[in-house]
Amino acid sequence: DWKMSSFAAATIQHIKETVGDKKVICALSGGVDSSVAALLVHKAIGKNLTCIFVDHGFLRKNEGDDVENVFRKQFDMNLIRVNAQERFLSKLEGVSEPERKRKIIGEEFIRVFEEESQKIGHVDYLCQGTIYPDVVESGIGDAAVIKSHHNVGGLPEDVAFTGIVEPLRDLFKDEVRRVGLEIGIPGPLVWRQPFPGPGLAIRIMGEITTEKLDILKEADAIFREEIVSAGLDRSINQYFAVLTGIKSVGVMGDGRTYDYTIALRGVTTSDFMTADWARIPYDLLDKISNRIVNEVKHVNRIVYDITSKPPATIEWE
Ligand code: XMP
Repeated sequence: DWKMSSFAAATIQHIKETVGDKKVICALSGGVDSSVAALLVHKAIGKNLTCIFVDHGFLRKNEGDDVENVFRKQFDMNLIRVNAQERFLSKLEGVSEPERKRKIIGEEFIRVFEEESQKIGHVDYLCQGTIYPDVVESGIGDAAVIKSHHNVGGLPEDVAFTGIVEPLRDLFKDEVRRVGLEIGIPGPLVWRQPFPGPGLAIRIMGEITTEKLDILKEADAIFREEIVSAGLDRSINQYFAVLTGIKSVGVMGDGRTYDYTIALRGVTTSDFMTADWARIPYDLLDKISNRIVNEVKHVNRIVYDITSKPPATIEWE
């Protein structure tokens, strides 16, 4: 597409001219926006960009390694991966209230990011993946907050930078994707479904433990794999597993079990403000349910969420 390729070329040129030989840092999350923004800056200034990828431990199965592989191996970026799982888990010990989880994760994220950026030394610019709808949304101001959406990757407010580099400020999501493909970001990353900043922490009802995280990662990976094999990954806009706090009685072989219930959530939506539950074929649900119960220890029951938004939200917390 000529328009987007000229956008990429012009933007890279513009970054070169404005940033010059100064240093830039970026919080990379593995999401589409921060990835495209970071790669544009990387193409403009190379190793003068350092990306900090804070792995809080609430990413999906293999996600942390995938992000690292793409940016370090494929693009040879200056990437710092911070494995902060234990740090986040200990901050969240005993916490079960959703908004407190978000707040703790958001604050801790900024702390880790600041610590890492201080290790780099003097940095002039911060690169952010802000896109046009973010600009518009933040202008609305006092719209009712249903859930606080910490875009984990937000600007540490008290850090002094010469400036902020936001190459995607004028683009809509579909345009960001086109630019991403154009500059060589792999398809699965470009088409990645939305994933909340606090990650799996808000898909585990109640207190988070490593055991629950492991169970959820496995169940979620099976669900996603089956949706992709059925060719439904682009028509269902967001789909994921939730570890409900419910334990119930089951029977396996000739023994009684008392284990977790996994809820599956799939929605179709254009703007994520309202959403309908996805009509996943029964046979596919059956296959997914059997696989999860057979392959994931400590799960003996699967339910499918058939509520739309409103009145439910897409996430369970
Ligand atoms: P809800 O659950 O409010 O979600 O219907 C709407 C969309 O927002 C995502 N979401 C979040 N994204 N930080 C984020 O960056 C958050 O705390 C957060 N909470 C929800 C959700 O995945 C869905 O796409």
